[in-house]
Amino acid sequence: MPLPNINPTEIKAWTKLNEIFQSEKKQSILQHFENDKHRTDHFCIQFEDLHFDFSKNRLSKKAFEALIDLANEMDLKSAIKAQFSGEVINQTENRPVLHTALRSKDEVKIDGESVKELVENTKIKISNFVQKVESGEWKGYSGKAITDVVNIGIGGSDLGPQMVVEALKHYHKKLNTHFISNVDGDHVAETLKGLNPETTLCIVVSKSFTTQETLTNANTVRSWFLKHTTQDQIQHHFVAVSANVEKANEFGISSDNIFPMWDWVGGRFSLWSAAGLSIACAIGFKAFEELLEGAQQMDEHFQNEDFDKNIPVILALLGVWYNNFYEAESEAIVPYTQYLQKLAPYLQQASMESNGKGVDRNGKPLDYQTGTIVWGEPGTNSQHAFFQLMHQGTKLIPADFIGFKSPLNDFKHHHDILMANFFAQTEALMNGKSEDVVIQELQSQGLNAEQIKELTPFKIFDGNRPTNTILFDQLTPKSLGMLIAMYEHKIFVQGVIWNIYSYDQWGVELGKQLAKKVLKDFKENEVGAHDASTLKLIEYYKSI
Ligand code: F6P
Repeated sequence: MPLPNINPTEIKAWTKLNEIFQSEKKQSILQHFENDKHRTDHFCIQFEDLHFDFSKNRLSKKAFEALIDLANEMDLKSAIKAQFSGEVINQTENRPVLHTALRSKDEVKIDGESVKELVENTKIKISNFVQKVESGEWKGYSGKAITDVVNIGIGGSDLGPQMVVEALKHYHKKLNTHFISNVDGDHVAETLKGLNPETTLCIVVSKSFTTQETLTNANTVRSWFLKHTTQDQIQHHFVAVSANVEKANEFGISSDNIFPMWDWVGGRFSLWSAAGLSIACAIGFKAFEELLEGAQQMDEHFQNEDFDKNIPVILALLGVWYNNFYEAESEAIVPYTQYLQKLAPYLQQASMESNGKGVDRNGKPLDYQTGTIVWGEPGTNSQHAFFQLMHQGTKLIPADFIGFKSPLNDFKHHHDILMANFFAQTEALMNGKSEDVVIQELQSQGLNAEQIKELTPFKIFDGNRPTNTILFDQLTPKSLGMLIAMYEHKIFVQGVIWNIYSYDQWGVELGKQLAKKVLKDFKENEVGAHDASTLKLIEYYKSI
């Protein structure tokens, strides 16, 4: 059964949400606390070591119940079932969506055929490979062991693995890991500068093995090797992760050294597959499995928990509430750990490539909003950058605050300062600072009446800015797996509610096509047909 196909704006729950929104939009979060003395119990969920507090939202119990009705009326239950059971829910590409099978304990079938064996065999291949490289059994052209692994890929073949490798730096074993993604030659040049070709191994990750950026980078790196060694030795320095074995072979990588990717795993959800080979190299296979285990736990929670206690479902519904009713344009991701510095860019692809769609599942242009703009930076750095706008700007920016009870390193006093900021910021965003308090403060500082009158408006904080608190015990491979899977499911739920196809990405194609045309124009005397602005720019570029 494909996904349900329902216009969300035409169902009862949507109308009800609209009515609730109209009657409650002026109510503050603090008033909601006043109205419900047990709000922190009602709007808090503990799952394993994940503590999720969504009480600091512009959300009454009534609105929450109506959002749950929305999920039910949109038949989210069947959609979840369809996804996990391998139905062809990516209809525009005619594919099932089964990244969850990569971490599942259950038997999952596509067209009656089990994928478990494929997944397990690949895991064995990953494990053997990592063991060989780690132990020094895998040698470079001069007989030396590998010290550095370079992931060459882009988009889903880069962002997920890179984010996880960075996030789990504390757990790194002995191999150094690097990432080349941008086709900007400076990116390749800077990465190669610090590397020794004798001890460097490249993983070319490309599901299609046709991506311009990845192939250009891989070819450049191969030429770098060829300055030091011969063509027949190249096989000791390249492996591939791809669904396109033929193209990877053409590049010079033998079939033995090609790890599979499957069309039922979307690029931006592929870090759990062999696309995460760089992760396994960095943290070891055991920790890689723990990452999968964390994700699997979240999958079970998502599949089995009632919607009103289901963390990804609630996150998704809150996103819909702000996006479609409060007309918020974006949402911020603010992890209070430097290790998660790549989380926001990773979620940008996962979320915006998935839900940045303008037509519904019937191909009809939408008259309601879909995918939000996702952005963010780790706290406390972000406090000294964009928090001014979040506190006093004119835009509503719901934010996810992600933190950990215990630090990974010894500096407990740092962690206390970090987490004091975390809690203080969510408190400040919600409570704000009233005119009376500002006046009192200025009086106590000894300012005169005129000075107080002048300064007061600038020092008022309206508050009422919503946040979710996502708190784990510690950043571990397992908790990270849970966190990532939580966001994957949030994205899926939102796609179901917005009645769009989340798993295709046709919107990235046009630019790719035109880039090929422009590149051709660079090489030829006559520039082809373009609009006047682009034509002039190409001619200007060529004149240098
Ligand atoms: O940017 C579009 C996209 O197709 C992504 O979805 C994908 O993750 C990325 O390009 C890389 O594709 P490939 O793995 O085929 O090189």
